Amino acid sequence: MPVPAPGLPEHVTIYEVGARDGLQNESAIVPVEVKAEFLHRLAAAGLRVLEATSFVHPKWVPQLADAGDLLRLLVRTDGVDYPVLVPNERGMDRALDAGVSHVAVFASATDTFAQRNLNSTLDSQFAMFEPVVKRALEGGLRVRGYVSMCFGDPWEGAVAPEQVAAVTRRLAEMGCHQISLGDTIGTGTPGHVDAVLDACVAAGVAVRQLAVHFHDTYGQALANTLAALRRGVRTVDASAGGLGGCPYAESATGNLATEDLVWMLDGLGIGHGVDLDALVATSVWMAERLGRPSPSRVVRALAGD
Ligand code: HMG
Ligand code: MG
Repeated sequence: MPVPAPGLPEHVTIYEVGARDGLQNESAIVPVEVKAEFLHRLAAAGLRVLEATSFVHPKWVPQLADAGDLLRLLVRTDGVDYPVLVPNERGMDRALDAGVSHVAVFASATDTFAQRNLNSTLDSQFAMFEPVVKRALEGGLRVRGYVSMCFGDPWEGAVAPEQVAAVTRRLAEMGCHQISLGDTIGTGTPGHVDAVLDACVAAGVAVRQLAVHFHDTYGQALANTLAALRRGVRTVDASAGGLGGCPYAESATGNLATEDLVWMLDGLGIGHGVDLDALVATSVWMAERLGRPSPSRVVRALAGD
């Protein structure tokens, strides 16, 4: 029986990143047919926005080198959106060839991570994204923006909320319909979430335009999500089974598990449209394919691992 709490929304959109953020970090290469089945099962469980893959350099992320093949295997269903990551014009060419309708550019709040993840700099990353966003908007595609290292950076340490807000604002001005604030290494805590959201709003970005993307390295992802929901955020990134990490930030572990998020939303009586049993069954199926148990507490509790 749900027990609602004050100051929370009636509905939350779950932006599922398991197939991209999760599988990009697997040491084993997952066959493309397994990836397609994973996405189809997640869609059948009720998820409506499923980040499918990345059109990045295949040498940088070999796990996602099959991006074009995967898109061709996906059965498009009305109301199910399959966004993809695109860093640059070459990636955009490939994504357009594969018939995508929603792309995401991914910026860094720090100079060091811009270099390590994009071979760019804090300033020059925007020049790389600009033509991507322009072409996407001209072609009627939707464009999401990410900001990584919003709550700390393994090389630079603390990151000022104003620095995060400045990058977020640049992405909003460029035309991103939504900007997802990434705690790439999972060090953030709820008061810090408030501070980053406040800085973004003070910089002129509407809170409804923001999403949150928490990695669960220090077990803070769910607490941080609740803080963000109380501040008006309505889109939460999560990864089925808690898969995830970032190959260019070693201290990043899995994302907030979608099952853990769904359990909390159910308890609060917040709508999300996902069938938890079908989702858990999918994560158990995927864990078998990866040869290790899911790190999600809810998957373990419900599947009896
Ligand atoms: P670069 O080496 O500087 O690329 O990499 P370049 O522009 O100098 O081009 C070199 C060669 O690569 C050229 O080929 C290009 O055509 C080719 P050549 O002329 O030598 O034959 N090339 C490509 N080929 C295929 N697809 C492409 C592409 N681009 C260039 N898209 C680049 C720059 C951005 C490509 C590289 O740094 C890269 O791919 N980075 C991606 C890293 C990544 O995917 N990281 C993980 C995602 S981010 C994340 O996980 C964080 C997030 O979850 C949020 C959070 O948690 O904080 C989103
Ligand atoms: Mg991530």
